[in-house]
This record gives sequence, C-alpha cells and structure tokens, in this order.
Amino acid sequence: MGLRGILLQQQLPLAAIILAAIAAATAASEPNSSCIRRCGSLQIPYPFGTSEECCLDRSFLITCNNSTPFLGGSNELKVLDVSMDGEMRVSSQIARDCPNEPGNNASESAYGFSLLDHFLISPTKNKFTAVGCNTVAVIVGIIVGDENYTTGCLSLCNSIESVGNGSCDGIGCCQISIPQGMSLFGLAVSSWYNDSTVADFNPCSFGFVSEDEAYNFSSLDLMNLQNRETVPVVLDWTVGNETCTDAKTNLTSYGCKANQSECYNSINGPGYFCNCSSGFEGNPYLHDGCQDINECEISKPCNMTCTNIPGSYKCGCSKGYEGDGMKHGTGCRPIVSNSRRIAIELEYHL
Ligand SMILES: *[C@@H]1O[C@H](CO)[C@@H](O)[C@H](O)[C@H]1NC(C)=O
Ligand SMILES: *[C@@H]1O[C@H](CO)[C@@H](O)[C@H](O)[C@H]1NC(C)=O
Ligand SMILES: *[C@@H]1O[C@H](CO)[C@@H](O)[C@H](O)[C@H]1NC(C)=O
Ligand SMILES: *[C@@H]1O[C@H](CO)[C@@H](O)[C@H](O)[C@H]1NC(C)=O
Ligand SMILES: *[C@@H]1O[C@H](CO)[C@@H](O)[C@H](O)[C@H]1NC(C)=O
Ligand SMILES: *[C@@H]1O[C@H](CO)[C@@H](O)[C@H](O)[C@H]1NC(C)=O
Ligand SMILES: *[C@@H]1O[C@H](CO)[C@@H](O)[C@H](O)[C@H]1NC(C)=O
Ligand SMILES: *[C@@H]1O[C@H](CO)[C@@H](O)[C@H](O)[C@H]1NC(C)=O
Ligand SMILES: *[C@@H]1O[C@H](CO)[C@@H](O)[C@H](O)[C@H]1NC(C)=O
Ligand SMILES: *[C@@H]1O[C@H](CO)[C@@H](O)[C@H](O)[C@H]1NC(C)=O
Ligand SMILES: *[C@@H]1O[C@H](CO)[C@@H](O)[C@H](O)[C@H]1NC(C)=O
Ligand SMILES: *[C@@H]1O[C@H](CO)[C@@H](O)[C@H](O)[C@H]1NC(C)=O
Repeated sequence: MGLRGILLQQQLPLAAIILAAIAAATAASEPNSSCIRRCGSLQIPYPFGTSEECCLDRSFLITCNNSTPFLGGSNELKVLDVSMDGEMRVSSQIARDCPNEPGNNASESAYGFSLLDHFLISPTKNKFTAVGCNTVAVIVGIIVGDENYTTGCLSLCNSIESVGNGSCDGIGCCQISIPQGMSLFGLAVSSWYNDSTVADFNPCSFGFVSEDEAYNFSSLDLMNLQNRETVPVVLDWTVGNETCTDAKTNLTSYGCKANQSECYNSINGPGYFCNCSSGFEGNPYLHDGCQDINECEISKPCNMTCTNIPGSYKCGCSKGYEGDGMKHGTGCRPIVSNSRRIAIELEYHL
C-alpha cells in the first residue's frame, strides 16, 4: 500500500477510537472494606477499584475477567501493574503489515486506544517505534486542549548486514518521542512498496508505542517480532484535573484525603497526585491511609535510646553518655569529667 493508503487508513483508527471513548463521571465516597482489591496477581489500591462503589470514579475502574485485569470497564486495555507514584503499565498491541503473507490482515496494521480522564501516555517513558526494511509508520493523537497531532517515521534497509543492534536511526528501526498530554492515539504501519527483495529477512513491517526501557531493537526483530503480540506502555495517572493549590480550595473534592499526605502537581499534564508525608506510609487517597513509620523498629537509627514520634524519631544517650545518639552521627560517648578532660587536653598540647 502506498502513502496515500496509509493516510486514508489513519482516519480509521482515529474515528473508531474517538467513538469508543466513554465519558467518566460519578464520584464515589470512600470505599468500604468489602471491596475486592485483587485480580489475579494484581493488587488494586484505591483510587482504583473493581466496582464503581470501590473506586474514585469510573476512570479508575479495573474490571476483572477470568483473573485478567482491564482498565476502564472495557475488555481492551490489560493492566500489568499499578504504582502509587502515579504510574501504571498496560499492554499495547504491535501493529503489523505482512504484504507477502497470504493471510495478511489489514485490520492488524492499525492499532490505538483512548484513555479516560486522569490518564495520559507518559511522554518521558514511552516511544513510538517502527521496525522494518520497507516501512512507513504514522501516529495520530489528540493532546490535551483538543489539539490534533500527526507524525510518523520511515525505516529502510537493503540487507540484514546493514542493520545494527540497539540504535533506531532509520536503518531497520526508527523511533520518535511521544508528546506531552496525549490521551488518545492511533497508529498505522505499512510497507512502502511490495518489495520481495527484503521479504526473506523482513516479511513484515511493525509499529508500536511502548515503554522505552522495555524494548531494545535487535536485527533479529526484523523476523522475530512476528512472534510477539504485545508491549508494555506506561501511563501517568492523576486524581483531579487541577493544580494542588486549586484542588485544596475544596476539601470535599480534594483527593489527598489522609491528614499526613502531600500533593504534587503532575509534570506531564494537568492534575495532581498524592503521597504520604515523609515519615508516613500507606495510601494517601484514604482518610486514615497514611500511618506513622516506626523508625526505631525499622531502620534502628539510634545507638542507645530511641523514641518514635509522628513522622520522625528522637535518639538519646543513657545517663553518663553524651552525643546526638545517632549511629550515623556522633553516637554516644562516655562523659569525661572536666578535670580528666583538662588533663587529656594538656597531655595533647604538651
Ligand atoms: C459495603 O457496601 C455494600 C454495598 O454497598 C454493603 O452491602 C455492605 O454492607 C458494606 N459493608 C460495610 C462493611 O460497610
Ligand atoms: C471476558 O473475556 C471473554 C473473552 O476474553 C469475553 O468473551 C467476555 O465477554 C468477557 N467478560 C466480560 C464480563 O466482559
Ligand atoms: C505482494 O507481492 C506478492 C508476490 O510478489 C503477492 O502475492 C501479494 O499479493 C502482493 N501483495 C500486495 C498487497 O500487493
Ligand atoms: C484480523 O485481525 C482482527 C484483529 O486482530 C481479528 O479480529 C480478525 O478476526 C482478523 N481477521 C482474519 C481474517 O484473520
Ligand atoms: C482533529 O481531527 C478530527 C478527526 O480527523 C477532526 O474531526 C477535528 O476537526 C480535528 N481538530 C482540529 C482542532 O484540527
Ligand atoms: C544483534 O544481536 C543478536 C543477539 O541478540 C545477534 O544474534 C545478532 O547477530 C546481532 N546483530 C548484529 C548486527 O550485531
Ligand atoms: C535495554 O537496554 C537498557 C540499557 O542497555 C537496559 O537497561 C534495559 O534493561 C534493556 N531492556 C531490555 C528489555 O532488554
Ligand atoms: C475538570 O473536571 C471537572 C469534573 O470532572 C470538569 O467539569 C471540568 O470541565 C474539568 N476541567 C478541565 C479543564 O478539564
Ligand atoms: C466541592 O466539591 C464537591 C464535590 O465535587 C461539590 O459538590 C461542591 O459543589 C464543591 N464546592 C465548591 C464550593 O465548589
Ligand atoms: C486529622 O486531622 C483532624 C483535624 O486536624 C483531626 O481531627 C483528626 O483526628 C486527624 N486524624 C488523624 C487520623 O490523625
Ligand atoms: C513518595 O514518598 C516516598 C516516601 O517518602 C518516596 O520514597 C517517594 O519517592 C515519593 N514519591 C513521589 C512521587 O514523590
Ligand atoms: C554506634 O553503635 C554502633 C554499633 O552499635 C557502633 O559500631 C558505633 O561505633 C557507635 N557509634 C558511635 C558514634 O558511638
């Protein structure tokens, strides 16, 4: 298929994806203890939840189908992990075009997904990659503020020998960054022309969005990517779509519910996320979610006596000793009497 075909095809995923987007709403109150917080091996902490009563709003719904977790109530985006630091990994498909294969499936040459409110494709952790010797790949998306985004890259090569490992510089592999604020993308991959000369070592053209660290190009991928269906993508999630300062003006809707929590503005788009304050641990999105860390028990920072206080601790020395009491400080030394100290100093100076 030529470039014109690709450009026509790019409309296809975009339109389908826009139609598939569902508006999220219905804020829930604090979840109760009967909520199921596990799906397969995945732990599902609030604001996420497996039913609408158990999550902050529908965007955070993770449905469990046969022990497989899916994001946002559809059966499309498989969740790989959830981090309380505002990140999540989902599974994304590799699009492919195999012109010489009898069963070449046109619908597999395009792929995309749309995210609900509060989720964006991480611009710092992901890349758009195309692999092939005869390959054009196009990505279209919508970035925050309803701006359309379209770009692409070209990957060519004449022989397997010309392809190096590791670098995606356009010979066998090309790669481009993801812009900030992207909540929806569609990509299409196509073979530039029906070239039988590269078909032996590169029967297909591939295109995908993936976590940068999870994919290192190898010349073997020109063949082997045929056996791989999915790659991980990192999403950034936030609660709320405003800044911390604005969010704090309405404590009813403010997401950092725990007393001992801090609010952080997202660096990749609008919104904020929460963290327990230093010296506390747990879930900042729940009222009593952040619990004091007992440093005396856990890190044993003191030499003699240790007193745990909320958010911190105090070291001390027993009677007859002096110092800050900290293992990584001056510790505790026996107190030397004044007359003895003078004697020691005198000795030193003489
Ligand atoms: C949790 O909510 C469910 C349904 O809303 C209710 O049936 C159940 O009694 C609640 N459990 C607790 C412990 O409040
Ligand atoms: C669970 O997944 C199967 C196949 O993967 C699908 O047929 C079924 O509709 C899904 N169930 C729900 C409740 O979405
Ligand atoms: C590409 O070429 C092969 C044989 O050279 C042919 O079988 C196949 O149908 C062609 N594909 C397209 C999309 O033109
Ligand atoms: C083509 O791929 C789509 C999506 O993966 C699949 O639903 C469809 O059944 C495939 N069609 C054929 C003929 O293999
Ligand atoms: C973005 O693209 C869509 C679909 O092609 C179109 O309907 C919309 O008008 C475009 N928006 C802008 C701001 O260009
Ligand atoms: C790339 O690495 C693979 C092993 O991962 C190796 O088999 C192949 O020969 C390497 N290709 C080049 C061009 O170095
Ligand atoms: C890719 O290479 C980087 C740096 O060399 C390494 O940190 C990373 O683990 C590799 N990833 C995979 C999936 O091999
Ligand atoms: C923020 O979210 C609220 C409620 O979900 C919505 O009414 C409002 O339009 C959003 N604001 C922006 C700038 O997206
Ligand atoms: C604060 O947020 C709550 C819940 O979203 C909303 O019902 C209420 O109107 C908001 N108050 C103000 C002053 O905006
Ligand atoms: C949180 O702060 C409020 C007001 O300062 C106080 O009444 C409440 O007891 C605190 N809750 C916890 C768990 O510390
Ligand atoms: C959240 O707090 C923990 C413990 O204080 C810290 O290790 C972590 O880096 C913080 N995360 C962010 C995103 O600030
Ligand atoms: C503190 O105690 C550790 C072990 O109990 C000891 O090795 C260290 O020397 C002490 N440090 C000081 C400054 O007293």
